Amino acid sequence: MQGRGRDPGRVGDLRIAPSLLSADFGMLAEQVGEVAPSADWLHVDVMDGHFVPNVTIGPPVVASLRRHTPLFFDCHLMMTDPGRYLEDFAEAGADGCTVHIEIGGTDELIARMRGLGLRAGLALNPDTPFDAVRPYLHDVDLLLCMTVFPGFGGQSFIADVMPKVAQARAVVGADALALDIEVDGGIDTTTAPLAATAGANVFVAGSAIFGHERPWEAADAIRESVRATTAR
Ligand code: DX5
Ligand code: ZN
Repeated sequence: MQGRGRDPGRVGDLRIAPSLLSADFGMLAEQVGEVAPSADWLHVDVMDGHFVPNVTIGPPVVASLRRHTPLFFDCHLMMTDPGRYLEDFAEAGADGCTVHIEIGGTDELIARMRGLGLRAGLALNPDTPFDAVRPYLHDVDLLLCMTVFPGFGGQSFIADVMPKVAQARAVVGADALALDIEVDGGIDTTTAPLAATAGANVFVAGSAIFGHERPWEAADAIRESVRATTAR
């Protein structure tokens, strides 16, 4: 089964990716509709109750949402065994899937994502060193630097991750890699500029957007905060 491959936009461009984790799960389609005009991607947090303690969204929800929006679905698989579900996500209409380096089997997972027509992403936790992902960067489309420990929305941004983001941006520049650098966790109008300065270009935000009375305004504000800091 092939992913549909909706346009992710140009690599390295500023992207705002609202995270559904903080949306009202009883009215997901409405929440997505509210934020869509101000969003580039939709970040879908998949938690398996094993890699992280929480359980959230799976392929059936992705398939349902697919009928309501043409947005690029950026699926963050916080799972011990994502390989078992990649085909289901592709079939459900995921555009990109991101797996964690900490679970191992990375070469095979990247090959499986490619084979399914998915954009391939690799995530690393705040305490995982950059060297762990370095060998795979020429093989993936996106590096997700977690700026909180995965599992819950609404946590505080870990600024100590910024040198790692800068390290990744330096390698992208030196090796001319076609790689997006995404940050996820505690992103708002104060922290997004810090991450942008370090070199991130994709900004995931859950509570800062869906915790706001007018989510689209919050997404626009994060975009503006980054634009004011960088030329992106
Ligand atoms: C955390 C998730 C994040 C989360 C971000 O495990 O991967 O995507 O939704 O939420 P905020 O923006 O509230 O930190
Ligand atoms: Zn996420």
